Amino acid sequence: MSSDALTTQSGLDPAKVPRHVAIIMDGNGRWAKQRLMNRVRGHEKGAETVRTIVTASREIGIAFLTLYAFSTENWQRSAAEVAALMRLLKNFLVTERDLMMRHDIRLSTIGEVERLPEDVRATLSETLSLTAGNRSMVLTLALSYGARAEIVRMVRTVATDVLEGRISAESIDEKRVSQGLYTRDMPDPDLLIRTSGEMRISNFLLWQIAYSELAITKTLWPDFSREEYLAILQDYQHRERRFGIA
Ligand code: IPE
Ligand code: IPE
Ligand code: MG
Repeated sequence: MSSDALTTQSGLDPAKVPRHVAIIMDGNGRWAKQRLMNRVRGHEKGAETVRTIVTASREIGIAFLTLYAFSTENWQRSAAEVAALMRLLKNFLVTERDLMMRHDIRLSTIGEVERLPEDVRATLSETLSLTAGNRSMVLTLALSYGARAEIVRMVRTVATDVLEGRISAESIDEKRVSQGLYTRDMPDPDLLIRTSGEMRISNFLLWQIAYSELAITKTLWPDFSREEYLAILQDYQHRERRFGIA
């Protein structure tokens, strides 16, 4: 189905599809707990939701989809949970190659990927290379990502540029700051979705979401569906974005 066909069928206005959607995928642990299951089962079910939402995003014609998969703070979870998340990530990077190739999706990452276990990094770099030529959508996984760490890293590069005389302090502007972030090659998110009801940002894309529209749903990530996603996108299309201009 073409993206226009899907947007029309779903009641979406093809002219107002957000270019960049970012999602804080939260609630896997609670989903498992409700069912008296191990948290890992929640993460496994959550990985299935990722596939559903990636596919829907591509069909709708979203150009950039950014998913918060693992935060810098998440390293502090139990060793067993971290290991399970790494195993699931590695698995996802292999099993979804076919989907990414069929749908012309390029994989990308933001975050301190050098902190990932070596076998995960090897698999990641294979999938990044495999999908590098794809053009219809960029799927960015935030892996070991924290916005404050990202900003610190940017400040270091800017400070070095000044110290070594490549730029003057006065010439630093918003563009230079944006260029120092992992997200330098993408537009800012138009829409930020968080599942499972928490009204917080949890160190995600602090600079980039300055004017993003926010959508928070109580639905836990493993239960988040294509239908609810479309409903959020419809709601987004009715909003008036003002960017501070009257
Ligand atoms: C989101 O679900 C997945 C990750 C943070 C990796 P959680 O694991 O945070 O689930 P809750 O918030 O405990 O329900
Ligand atoms: C944010 O969720 C990180 C990811 C979705 C990967 P968390 O569950 O880690 O955030 P808090 O603990 O609710 O702030
Ligand atoms: Mg959580």
